[in-house]
Amino acid sequence: MKDLFARIIENKGPLGKWASQAEGYFVFPKLEGPISNRMKFQGKEVITWSINDYLGMANLPEIKKVDGETAAEYGAAYPMGARMMSGHTDFHEQLETELADFVHKESSYLLNFGYQGILSAIDALVSKDDIIVYDVDSHACIIDGVRLHMGKRFTFVHNDIESLKKNLERATKMAEQTGGGILVISEGVFGMRGEQGKLKEIVELKKEFNFRLLVDDAHGFGTLGKTGAGAGEEQGVQD
Ligand SMILES: Cc1ncc(COP(=O)(O)O)c(C=O)c1O
Repeated sequence: MKDLFARIIENKGPLGKWASQAEGYFVFPKLEGPISNRMKFQGKEVITWSINDYLGMANLPEIKKVDGETAAEYGAAYPMGARMMSGHTDFHEQLETELADFVHKESSYLLNFGYQGILSAIDALVSKDDIIVYDVDSHACIIDGVRLHMGKRFTFVHNDIESLKKNLERATKMAEQTGGGILVISEGVFGMRGEQGKLKEIVELKKEFNFRLLVDDAHGFGTLGKTGAGAGEEQGVQD
């Protein structure tokens, strides 16, 4: 690992002028103390925005109690392998059913973390004849997911419906040639900017164009909409 960072610093790699601060700061930060929304970092008290515990719920006594009881009954890491090979349990399926109900969808599928989830979803939804049209300010997981795609892809200007329309016109012509379909990708709440994707306007375009819509709602889930179902519910287009 040390070698890798030495090389990044020497080549002024992807972190540019920040490369010399990379290890232990931008990458592999070392946090101290119990996981929480307030922790110690390099000796100082900090608010931790880089973990998935903004509300500090991970260490609530009742959560720790259930966690401990479950580990005592089933062991600490069930099923101890990749789910595809090692399998899963009734509990995994029950959680998927509850999550699907929560977002008012027919079904859900659990993947280990957001980055892998989006990468896998994009890969599962398109074949080489399909065309992807995605927001240029998409999160890195969407950019990388699109990079796996063997077919054509277009970007549209961030949250710009006119630009999306132009690109849908191009994609529609192309889809006529390939015989494929179109997948539009946006975010419920843009992770890097904070504002909502224009889901309502995008859905409205379905009257004019034939496409499927994939929304990464990492930041709308649980926070937006009357029941917390996310940005789609907030904008009245969850279905
Ligand atoms: C919009 C969006 N999608 C996906 C992810 C990736 O999630 P994870 O950190 O669980 O890989 C993030 C991370 O912040 C995100 O902001």
